[in-house]
Amino acid sequence: MAKLLSYFYPLTKKVHSDHSGTLEITWYNGRKHLDTKNANYSYGSLQRILKFGLEKINLKQVNSVLLLGLGGGSVVETLRHDFSYSKTITAVDIDPVVIDIAKNEFNLKDDAHLHVVCEDALHYMQTNNNRYDLIIIDLFIDTEVPMPFLALPFWKQVLTASTSNGAILFNASLEKTKSTALIAVIEFLKSHKYHTEVFEKVNNTNTLILSKGL
Ligand SMILES: C[S@@+](CC[C@H](N)C(=O)[O-])C[C@H]1O[C@@H](n2cnc3c(N)ncnc32)[C@H](O)[C@@H]1O
Repeated sequence: MAKLLSYFYPLTKKVHSDHSGTLEITWYNGRKHLDTKNANYSYGSLQRILKFGLEKINLKQVNSVLLLGLGGGSVVETLRHDFSYSKTITAVDIDPVVIDIAKNEFNLKDDAHLHVVCEDALHYMQTNNNRYDLIIIDLFIDTEVPMPFLALPFWKQVLTASTSNGAILFNASLEKTKSTALIAVIEFLKSHKYHTEVFEKVNNTNTLILSKGL
């Protein structure tokens, strides 16, 4: 019923999160999306932005994905449905409220191929011993990437967790210009033999970094 009504007017449910403030789950034109006060977190334009990056990766060579920033799980849907990726995904999110929303509002199912971890991604990377063929980094609090994820200690851990010719897809910014910290991350990746492409204004907004081990 909500889906049908949403063709006539948007229907929004608000949920409080200690991490992200008010989260809004909105039915609009028969589709549901997840937003914060100022940003789209899942489905909607965010899903299109990550799909743009995934189209540039040979997913046939990918046997394991680490997703930092689960949100409502729209990139999991994209991987499964648009790219028929059926192998393992480990998804990390700090926010139990967001994980509940992914499961209860967006039908995300923990199964043998999807492992959801409720943890700070910074801590996860500090203690992680696994290696992944594709690491997707989509960590935002509202419109901001928290600073630790633009600092080189985190990026050293990302490279350690990446297989030798693995790919890294980083949803890096909503800003119009690249920050000094982001420029340092790009230089760091290039200097570690990662072929690194920067896509600006993807979907008119985000900066996306795609890095592949050579
Ligand atoms: C844009 S949403 C992710 C959207 C998701 N990738 C998708 O495809 O729908 C950003 C997510 O980053 C999470 N996040 C922010 N800081 C985090 C941290 N320190 N550790 C883990 N998750 C974090 C937020 O809780 C939020 O769910």
